[in-house]
Amino acid sequence: MPTFRPGDPAAVNDLFEQIAPRYDRLNDLLSLGLHRIWKRQAIAWLAPAPGQRLLDLCCGTGDLAMLMAVRVRPGGTVLGVDRAAAPLRLARQRAARQPWLPLQWLQADALATGLADASVDGAVMAYGLRNLADPAAGLAELRRLLRPGGRAAVLDFNRSDSTGAAGRRTAALQRLLLRRLVVPVAAGAGLKEHYAYLEESLERFPTGAGQEALARAAGFAVARHRPLAGGLMGLLQLQAPCGTQRATQ
Ligand SMILES: C[S@@+](CC[C@H](N)C(=O)[O-])C[C@H]1O[C@@H](n2cnc3c(N)ncnc32)[C@H](O)[C@@H]1O
Repeated sequence: MPTFRPGDPAAVNDLFEQIAPRYDRLNDLLSLGLHRIWKRQAIAWLAPAPGQRLLDLCCGTGDLAMLMAVRVRPGGTVLGVDRAAAPLRLARQRAARQPWLPLQWLQADALATGLADASVDGAVMAYGLRNLADPAAGLAELRRLLRPGGRAAVLDFNRSDSTGAAGRRTAALQRLLLRRLVVPVAAGAGLKEHYAYLEESLERFPTGAGQEALARAAGFAVARHRPLAGGLMGLLQLQAPCGTQRATQ
């Protein structure tokens, strides 16, 4: 049985290569379809507009990229970036069924995309930051890519602050759901270790306040973390400073 160590880029890549064919179905099943609402909430912060160039970092099979592509027409584009080949293949297949959507795909590392400074109007990263070996570096890359005043939304599981009673209760509920629902259901699909990784990755993920601090250190002018789904999920709303010509690293 493989084990997937959080923070090990090769192991994380293997994990997503392997789960790709069942990822979308399990997402719908395990969240009862709610991930679609959380993704729409992330996109709402960006308020996509026609003509914009938007980025979906760690795009997986392309859920957010496809939602945003509808909103940037006419004249805009959405670029989906992922390090793993298998989810990107599925994203391309989905996009091919709606060829009128202005979508592009790139296989690249979210920590070093190779894209130009200040080259996008807005960006999302859903369930990606927690998987990066260095979340601070991921936020710095996100900041580098945004034009002045550009917005980004980072959606992920929420690592509750366990210093208070409410945070400890949320963390306990999250553990219960992961251990009693998510991992057993995934085990039925032969993906027990792949989904056991979720709880481990959450343990090394910064809290909302920690993410805000990392984002400010990366140069974001606005960095606000909002709990979603009773604190089980979290949305980090970011905005680059206005009026600077280039992002700072
Ligand atoms: C949990 S999936 C999320 C996919 C999609 N954003 C969604 O919400 O449905 C995480 C994705 O991040 C990608 N990923 C992990 N580390 C990455 C990295 N360093 N650079 C680019 N993509 C990465 C994985 O390949 C995987 O497709």
